[in-house]
Amino acid sequence: MELRVNGHPVTVHAEPDRLLLFVLRNDLDLTGTKYGCGEGQCGACTVLLDGSPVRSCQIKIGAVAGKKVTTIEGVCRGDELHPLQKAFIECDAMQCGYCTPGMIISGIALLEKTAKPSNAQIKEALQGNICRCGTYNRIVAAVNLAATHGEKNHA
Ligand code: FES
Ligand code: FES
Repeated sequence: MELRVNGHPVTVHAEPDRLLLFVLRNDLDLTGTKYGCGEGQCGACTVLLDGSPVRSCQIKIGAVAGKKVTTIEGVCRGDELHPLQKAFIECDAMQCGYCTPGMIISGIALLEKTAKPSNAQIKEALQGNICRCGTYNRIVAAVNLAATHGEKNHA
């Protein structure tokens, strides 16, 4: 099966009903995408599929053929972290870090659609991502900071 993962063409030899999450982690060594609940409830496994956030634990690889998958490993801009990754570091928006890749992917999807989201929009976009460490306020602050930096870059 041919996919495009983080901008590169990839051939995967897998049964079509295998889950995208496990193909990414086990076959492609992209372990930044996390296995949390396995039931579509926690958002730890979130990746972008053709630009939209999806739960990779719920997507069969057969449904992904020919599509573009972006994982946390693919959001850097060359050697530079994505502005939202930098903002997470600046705001110390993580404790154990297990939810962080999924949070950042969902946040990037939001910022692509809405350059300067309100707090309500940020909370709505991230409501399917659970942080067991309770760093929600700092996560919202990080998305706000990335949006502010993005605004300055476009000024
Ligand atoms: S591991 Fe996919 S939503 Fe929890
Ligand atoms: S930082 Fe630990 S689950 Fe979010």
